Amino acid sequence: MNILGIESSCDDTGLAIVDSSGQIIAHVTSSQHQIHAKYGGIVPELASRDHVKKFIPLLDFLLNKANTKISDIGMIAFTNGPGLLGPLLAGASLAKALGWSRSIPTIEVNHLEAHIYSPMITEKNLAPPFISLLVSGGHTLLSIVDEDFQIKTLGTTLDDSAGECFDKIARKLGLGYPGGPEIARRSEDAIDNKFSFPRPMINSNDYNFSFSGLKTHVINKLQKIELTDESINNISFELQDSIVETLISKSLKASQDHGIKNIVVTGGVSANKRLRDKFSQVSNYDVFFPDVKFSTDNGAMIAYAGFLKSRSSDIEKNFKIKPNPSLTL
Ligand code: KG4
Ligand code: ZN
Repeated sequence: MNILGIESSCDDTGLAIVDSSGQIIAHVTSSQHQIHAKYGGIVPELASRDHVKKFIPLLDFLLNKANTKISDIGMIAFTNGPGLLGPLLAGASLAKALGWSRSIPTIEVNHLEAHIYSPMITEKNLAPPFISLLVSGGHTLLSIVDEDFQIKTLGTTLDDSAGECFDKIARKLGLGYPGGPEIARRSEDAIDNKFSFPRPMINSNDYNFSFSGLKTHVINKLQKIELTDESINNISFELQDSIVETLISKSLKASQDHGIKNIVVTGGVSANKRLRDKFSQVSNYDVFFPDVKFSTDNGAMIAYAGFLKSRSSDIEKNFKIKPNPSLTL
């Protein structure tokens, strides 16, 4: 049975089809970055309208790409949160309308859970238990995923998420939105970096994060220096390193403290090359990332989470991945 996945929690319209063996047979993502760039952040009303406009043409495109028909879809998985209300309602409406018209079931998927399991799309031997670091625009969440797919939160950010810190500093530097990829690009051209930013909460004896102090520190620094290509590149480099080192340090602590060698790093920020490179240099741990194209929001991770849930015999009563109280809307 093929499952259609629908993602519309924020500013990416993602659709994908997964087959009965968990293989993604086609996926398509339409980003709204250009629509929101001039506002420096996401305008929910515009995001909702664009999802509604794109869904049907994208669905046609997806079915063509997969060389299949809507009648070959046996189930629909859609993001039910967390996310922006209007965009979520748009996706839920599409899922429910399709489900009703074709008399097929719909499955609600938690967006964070979908990110957390996204490396399993390509890493077929990966299975819980593992330490999960989810780093996106909305969340910085460190948790343990046990063999029953139950997620226990170890720590989270006390204020801004890592992605938010990238995005807000990028805005101050006059770089585009989303900020993470721009900061990463600028970092590559950094030479002779003389900046030294704090590694927030790196020595706190817990698994929490805090990125708002780092943000304020960088903003204060910006008021004292001239913004040139060179200083922008160096600030980008140091900001990225500060975030990367903090994320890695806390993940390794969680892994060590709990005796779990596998670390799974997901969410938009997991696309970051420096984060991937630095994690690959640590020994004694096995670190897994999603395919880069499945790091930022996409329909494939929703379809795949739907596939994981559908393997349970009674979908309503025996979800292996149960709704998780710590991952709320
Ligand atoms: O998971 P995602 O697509 O959406 C949410 O669920 O929030 O994550 C978006 C976040 C943004 O903050 C964006 O700046 C960041 O991921 N991001 C990156 C990179 N690509 C996306 N951050 C650092 N480096 C990247 N290459
Ligand atoms: Zn996301």
